[in-house]
Amino acid sequence: MATLEHAPAPTPTPVAIDVTFRIRRYNPEVDSEPHWEDYIVPCFPTDRILDGLAKVKADVDGTLTFRRSCAHGICGSDAMRINGRNRLACKTLVKDLDTSKPVTVEAIKGLPLEKDLVVDMEPFFKAFRDVMPFLVTDGKHLPTREWVQSAEDRAIFDDTTKCILCACCTTSCPVFWTDGQYFGPAAIVAAHRFIFDSRDTAGSQRLEILNDKEGVWRCRTTFNCTDACPRGIEVTKAIQEVKRALIMR
Ligand code: SF4
Ligand code: SF4
Ligand code: FES
Repeated sequence: MATLEHAPAPTPTPVAIDVTFRIRRYNPEVDSEPHWEDYIVPCFPTDRILDGLAKVKADVDGTLTFRRSCAHGICGSDAMRINGRNRLACKTLVKDLDTSKPVTVEAIKGLPLEKDLVVDMEPFFKAFRDVMPFLVTDGKHLPTREWVQSAEDRAIFDDTTKCILCACCTTSCPVFWTDGQYFGPAAIVAAHRFIFDSRDTAGSQRLEILNDKEGVWRCRTTFNCTDACPRGIEVTKAIQEVKRALIMR
C-alpha cells in the first residue's frame, strides 16, 4: 500500500514569464520598408511561439498578420524565421529559446513579402506542381483490388512521404535566395516521392524536368534544407538520390 512518505511530489504550478517578441512588421499600404517592433506578453514555458503571437494579436495589436491552421505541426502553414532559423511556430516552445533576450520573428526568406509574417507562396507551389507530384501509371497493369507493394519497395521513398509543404527547406536554401527560379528542395522531395515509387511510370519525365538548368544540379549540398525540415526528412540525401538516378539512367 502506498504511504504518504512514498506519494509522488506535487507537480509545481507553471509560472508565466514576460517574453519580448521582436517582430518584423510590414504593411504594404503604409510602410515603404519592413521594420521591427517589440511586444511583451506573458507566456508559460510550455507555450508555443504560435501561442505568443496569438496573444500579441488578441491583446496588443490585432493587425498582426500571420498564417496558421492546425497548430499541431501538420498543415505546414506557419513556417517563419524564429531567432534566425526557419521553424514552425506551433512546434517551437518558449522554454527552448533564450527568453532573457527578445525572440525575433520574421517572415521566411526568398518569397515575396505580402504582409508581416505572410509571404506569397505561389512560386513555391508552382515548382511543386511542375514536378508532377501525383502517381502516374501507363493504365495497362492496373490491379482490380489493392495495389500491393513490398515493404522494401515502400521503404525506398518512405522518408519523402512525410513532407507537409511548409517551405522551411526551400526558404533556407542559399541557392533559392539568390535564384528564385531554382526548383528548390521541397519540389525535389515531392518528385523523389514518386520517382522511386515502384507503381509510378513517369519517373523518367520527372528526372528530365529536374535535369533542367534550374533543377537538381543547382544544389550545392550545404544541408541547410535538412537542418530546417520540421519533419526530420533527410532532404539533402533525397536530392543526392535524384542526382544519382539521373547519372545512372
Ligand atoms: S543542400 Fe542543396 S537544396 Fe538544400 S539548402 Fe543546400 S543548396 Fe539548397
Ligand atoms: S521537406 Fe520538410 S522542410 Fe521541406 S517542405 Fe517538406 S516538410 Fe517542409
Ligand atoms: S499551424 Fe499547422 S503546422 Fe503549424
